[in-house]
Amino acid sequence: MVKLIGVNKINTSVFISGNGTNLQNLIKFSKTYNSPIKINIVISNKKNAYGIKYAKKNKIKIQIIDFSKKSEINRLLKILKFNNIKLICLAGFLRILSKYFIKSFKGKIINIHPSLLPKYKGLNTHERVLKKNEKFTGCTVHFVNEKLDGGKIILQKKIKIFKKDNVKSLKNRVLKEEYKLYPKSIIKILSNY
Ligand code: GRF
Repeated sequence: MVKLIGVNKINTSVFISGNGTNLQNLIKFSKTYNSPIKINIVISNKKNAYGIKYAKKNKIKIQIIDFSKKSEINRLLKILKFNNIKLICLAGFLRILSKYFIKSFKGKIINIHPSLLPKYKGLNTHERVLKKNEKFTGCTVHFVNEKLDGGKIILQKKIKIFKKDNVKSLKNRVLKEEYKLYPKSIIKILSNY
């Protein structure tokens, strides 16, 4: 594993829409000795996203972007370029990125999804997994392409579903795994950088 420390860390942006617990976890990870990333800027499509507080607390720049406007996407691209961003981590980001945007960051956008992809793409995964009486679920980190939750898989973690599990318990147990899987996946893709 390559150790990129201090000035050599890869400039990274995290995109969020909501709670931001993965953001909080990635910030913590970015500050460790073994982390190959530095989080320079957090992007949110919602001005009231709860997760923004983690960026503020850690004095990380924040930008609110209206992803429905092309002019805003161009403004975002300028901001990311200005900050020399080389990796974008989507963490509970609830917008589908345009082809135009993805093309500008080809191979540099990754996402975490709370299911064992390619199963259960999209929203409300835990509800659907329970309805189908699945025996296992988990989480996946993958590259982002134009297809929803469809890019190349980087890493996955599988967990067993217990009889007593409900949406809340499953969500919490999967989230715990997400906090380990996202940093591991980042190390995996950047170790040859
Ligand atoms: C996570 O389960 C993530 O996999 C999914 O959305 C949820 C975001 O949680 N994409 P948080 O905002 O990081 O707490």
